[in-house]
Order: sequence, then structure tokens, then C-alpha cells
Amino acid sequence: MWSSSRSTARPDPVSSVYKVSSVARLYKHNFISDLSTNSKGGVLVHFWMVFEVPRLESAVVCEECVGVILRDSVHTSLKNRSSVGYLLDLPVDIDSILINAVQRSDYTSTAAGSQCVDKLYASLPGVSVPLNIFSSWGDVRCHVKLTAVPGFLIRLTIASFQMDPSDCVHDALTAYDALLPMRGRVLHRLCTPVSSSISLVSTSNVMLLSFTMTGGSKSFRGHFEAITEELCLSRIIPQSHVSGSINSPFHPSLMPPHSSCTWIFQTPDAALGVALQLKNYVLRPKDMKGCEHGWWRVNEVIFCGSYVGHESVFRIAQHTAEVEFRSTTRRAAQPFQLSYSSYNISQPCPESHFLCSTGLCVEKSRRCDGLDDCQDESDEVFCLMPTKNCGGGSSSPLHPLFVCNGEPDCANGLDETNCTQEAICSAVSFRCDSDSCIRKKNARCDDVTDCQDGSDERDCACGLPTPPVAHRIVGGSDSDEGEWPWQVSLHFSGHLICGASVLSSDWLISAAHCFSKDRLSDPRRWRAHLGALMQGSAKHVAEIQRIVPHEYYDASTLDYDMALLQLKRAWPASLGPLVQPVCLPATSQAVTAQHRCWVTGWGHRSEDDKSLPSVLQKAQVSVMSQTECKAIYGLVSPRMLCAGVSTGERDACRGDSGGPLSCQAPSGGRWFLIGIVSWGAGCGRPELPGVYTRVSKFTSWIYGHIS
Ligand code: ARG
Repeated sequence: MWSSSRSTARPDPVSSVYKVSSVARLYKHNFISDLSTNSKGGVLVHFWMVFEVPRLESAVVCEECVGVILRDSVHTSLKNRSSVGYLLDLPVDIDSILINAVQRSDYTSTAAGSQCVDKLYASLPGVSVPLNIFSSWGDVRCHVKLTAVPGFLIRLTIASFQMDPSDCVHDALTAYDALLPMRGRVLHRLCTPVSSSISLVSTSNVMLLSFTMTGGSKSFRGHFEAITEELCLSRIIPQSHVSGSINSPFHPSLMPPHSSCTWIFQTPDAALGVALQLKNYVLRPKDMKGCEHGWWRVNEVIFCGSYVGHESVFRIAQHTAEVEFRSTTRRAAQPFQLSYSSYNISQPCPESHFLCSTGLCVEKSRRCDGLDDCQDESDEVFCLMPTKNCGGGSSSPLHPLFVCNGEPDCANGLDETNCTQEAICSAVSFRCDSDSCIRKKNARCDDVTDCQDGSDERDCACGLPTPPVAHRIVGGSDSDEGEWPWQVSLHFSGHLICGASVLSSDWLISAAHCFSKDRLSDPRRWRAHLGALMQGSAKHVAEIQRIVPHEYYDASTLDYDMALLQLKRAWPASLGPLVQPVCLPATSQAVTAQHRCWVTGWGHRSEDDKSLPSVLQKAQVSVMSQTECKAIYGLVSPRMLCAGVSTGERDACRGDSGGPLSCQAPSGGRWFLIGIVSWGAGCGRPELPGVYTRVSKFTSWIYGHIS
């Protein structure tokens, strides 16, 4: 088709290529959006090419195909090994050709003109250019182009961004590592308010900011500046004490894509190796999959980095070490800082200490004490079943597992006495709001006031099914109406994908893996069905405002498999009896084999089930010890727990993910959300239990978001 637009004196080189190409029929026109200079002294032309593509032909004009067509025509004119060829006499550097597809909405919003100041320039490095944007009424959609002197990079500092936490649709700031809003060049997206300053760095002298601010008064305050490129390379002589630290490039700014660093360590003595202390990061040997959060080469061995909720120590048992880091994300990555020291290769930990798999050293006396001192439970494996030392002698005290867990473990009752007595705060004591701790593990919402400030019985409108059902049927079976009022079914584009549980009038909890694929992360396409017994008979269908997956969720290990969902609107209180929150366990909450635990959901009833059940299914399972769980699956983190029955006949399966494992104390009372359906080897196989996210490990993370 012929485009009848402007007739220009000089034929347009881009059109001349596409009008005789395989996509000529779909090509409409192109226009220049911007010019900038590159560091080689050339002019970089940023332009839009518009194709009109019928749905069926979308494969014909893929990003790559369009790029190949342009590169091909330049390529035929390349001479003597230079990268410069010609398009209608116009010299073009083939290496500078970069083509990215965008959504029509991105194109129309920039092409229609921006609603705010749209071009800012940073001339001298170190001179900061203020950038403040306010919206007091109506909707603001604007694009701000930042450019700097060629050869420099741009650092944007966001001092504050006031907006409604959103799903990245209503209020958002997207920073692109380009002058056009290309999806492949998103540097960073902000969809939650910022109160403490953050900064990010581009990979060239341009950056595009795209603001969306809807309704109410929203504001952005910040500035940007030109900065010099950093060469991240250093030689280090570590000392025996923690003698210094190394940073990600541009620390504490977010690290730009394609960042890399090399550090060469040499310890003063051949008997000394290099120890790297990592704050919330671990290095693990690389497996078949790629590295998601950083690629590390340590003396020719490759490791992958991951973010975790604890510290670790990585030891290199050589006195010289070349450590190379490369970022592996296309977007800006979290900055890191590691400190280093030398250590004695033949004795990494001090005398009387135990070496954890996390590299930490803990006192030997802490091994098998029921507390996760190593942060990965490596001090709690291969432990004998703790003996019940009921004598009360101080020489070998009662194992913390038995202390004040609500069950009589000692005939003399000593294990359950003085439970509201103040204790040293630890993972096995209950923390009152006043920050004092008591020995009673399951003090939360048990209808007995245990804390002096009464905080253990606050916010306890949870975990009570209505009507209380006296008899439950063992085995996978139909639930009764109102039996699991916190059970939610989550539908994506109309299909049941996962389960979830009600935490409050506007928050649900589910598994991160339900939302991890790109298209599944769009909250607008999900619906939460509340108060349903039969599929399709929900008392209330809620829209989702925002999905908050755990920031340490690791798709390859399924560690930190948890996500919170905020509803657009609170569910009506009138649904009361049939929709109700489940109780959240305290960090100290103990679940013993005597607890009654049920997994519920509308997922498959067997591995090869063809249809989904219509009535909510329930199955009673028992929580296994972490030692047994690790013996079966090996890769089990402290954030996971195993539950099942040895025959395997009762289990969760595909479609149940994200749904609850609800437990009730043997003495009755409220139901607590002990687990979230996460993974398993097949479904219902003998000796292969289901693996659940251990909710008690996330108590403060959850409250941090929902309250
Ligand atoms: N990941 C599964 C889902 O998407 C849940 C698997 C649970 N498997 C098990 N055997 N318990 O629904």
C-alpha cells in the first residue's frame, strides 16, 4: 500500500527500505521524535515507525524481523570492515540500530504531546537540574526527556514521590534507558510511594521518564545530573579483620543494566583465604538455569547470586582470588555492598564454633537447640529427636521445642508451667507489643490474655468458621458452607488458577509463583472469588488493586513463595459469617503433630484429573518435622514446611497453589494460616508430602504491608 503523506524533496531513507520489503503492506510511515548525540560524535536519530498489523499477521512484524530488514539494507553497503554503511547516501552506523516494539498506547501518548515540561538538559557533570512535577486535579500523563553531554551518564535522584500505591497502571513512574518508551528498555518502575531518596543511573546520556498520575494531588520531587562512567576494577589486600567493603557500581544508586565489576584479592599469607560477608545476598553454584540476580565468576567457577532475608559469608579458600560480577537483569538492579576480610583456610571458624552452610560461624552449643542460628537451619539437621528432659535440672534444660507449646510433654507438667513468665526474646518466645517476650509460643488469639499489655488478644476477629462444624470427614472430601470462610479462589481472565486466603477486609494472601510470569502480574486481569462453596457461586467477586510478591521470591528454588493482594474495595461486612479472615500465626507459633491441619482448594483431585471439582475440597494432613522434610526433598528452606500423610492419599495439587493450610490447636479455638500451598513432587504420591510456605516466618513482612 502506498502512503500518501508528505512529499519531501529528499526521499526518506527508512521508508525507502520498508516500502520494498516483505512488510511493505503493513508499513504506514515514520517520523523523527528526537535527535541526540552519541559518544562517538555522531547523531542518534530516535524515530517512530508505524505499522498497522491485523491480529493474525502479528508474527510478520516482530521486533527482530523489522530490525533485520533495516540492518540488511545497511549491511549490503558496508565497506572495508567498518560498521558504517549507507541508506540512500546517508551514512549509518549499523551498531547503532536498535529497534523495539511498543504498545499502541505508549505511542499515542507520546505522539499526542506531553502534558508537562518535556525536555531537560544537564550540561556540566555535577550540576544538578531540579525536576518537580505536581498534579492537583485531573489526570497527568507526561513524558520528560533527560539528556546530558555526550560521553556522560544520567543519574536521576527521586527525593519523594507521593502517589497512591497502585498496580503500575493508575499512578506510576517508568524510567526508560532510551528516549522512546520502549518496553525492552525499562530501567525502573515505581508504583509505590517513595519517601526516602533513591537514585538510578542510565547506560548512556539519555533517559526518558513517563509519569502517570491520576486524580487527587500527587507530586514528584527530584533532580538529575550528568555523571562520568565508572570503571569497576580494583586490587584489594584483605586483612584478618573486616577491613573494607566493595560496592556495586554507582552504589547506593540502583545498578544500571549490564554492569560489571572485577576485584582481585590477594591475602598477606598463603594460609589465608578471602571471606566475603554478604548482607542479604547469597552465592550458590550455578546450575542448569541462568542466574537471575547476578552472575559471579570466582577463580573460574561460576556462581549465581540471590537476595535472601539474612546474611551469609562466602569463603574463597585461596590466597589470591579474581572475582568478577555481572548484573543479569535487563532493568536496574538493587545495589549491594559486601565487606571482606582474610580468614584462616584450615580453620574458618573460631574454636568451639560450628560452620553453617550459610558460612556463618555459630557456637557449638547452639547446634540442635531448636533455633535456626545458621539462618538456613544447617545447625538443626542430623539432630537426634530431642529427648524430653523433664527433670528441670539446669545442667541439660528441656529442649525449647517442648517448652510452653500448649501440649503436655512431661508427666510432671513442668514444660507447661510459668509460660507467661518473661523470657529472653527469640524465635521460640512470643513477643508482646510492648517488646517484652513470654515463653508461651501460641499466645496469639487463644482467648487467654497472656501479655501484660493484652496485645496477644488484640485484632482477633479471625479464624472462626461459621457454623462450627463438629465432625469432619477424613480424606479429600466436599467442604460445608462456611467451613473455610477465608478460602478464596483466584481467577485469571476467567480461569481458576490459584487459591488465596482472606487476611482482612482488603487484603488477601497467596503464593508468589501464581503471579510470576509477566502476563500474570497484571492485577487488572485477576478476580478474587470470596465466600464460595461451589465454583461460580461466590458471594462476592473482588477486583485486585495491587499484587505484592515477596521481594526475595526465587522462581528456581520457590523460596519466599508468598504474595499479598490488595483489593480495590473492601468486601462488604454483611458477608460476615461466610467471608472471614484467617488468623495469622505469631513468629513463635508451634504446630505439633497433634494440631488439626487441613488443606483446601478447588485444584485437581489427582495428577491426571481432567476436570476441576465444583465443590471446595478439604483434606486433613499432618505437618512433618523439618528434618523429615529435608530428608525427602533436600532443597527445603526454613521458609517451607512439609505436610501430608505417608500413603500420600491426601494432598494438594495443581490449582490449589496459594490456598491455605489451616490449623487448629488440639484443644480447639481459632484456625491459623500455617501454610500456603507451594509445591510438591507430583500430587498424592506416597512418601512425597506437599510443600507449603511457612507463614510464621513472614509475620512482620505481612504486617509491614497490610497495616
Ligand atoms: N504448584 C501447584 C499449583 O500451581 C501446587 C502444587 C502442590 N503440590 C502438592 N503435591 N502438594 O497449584
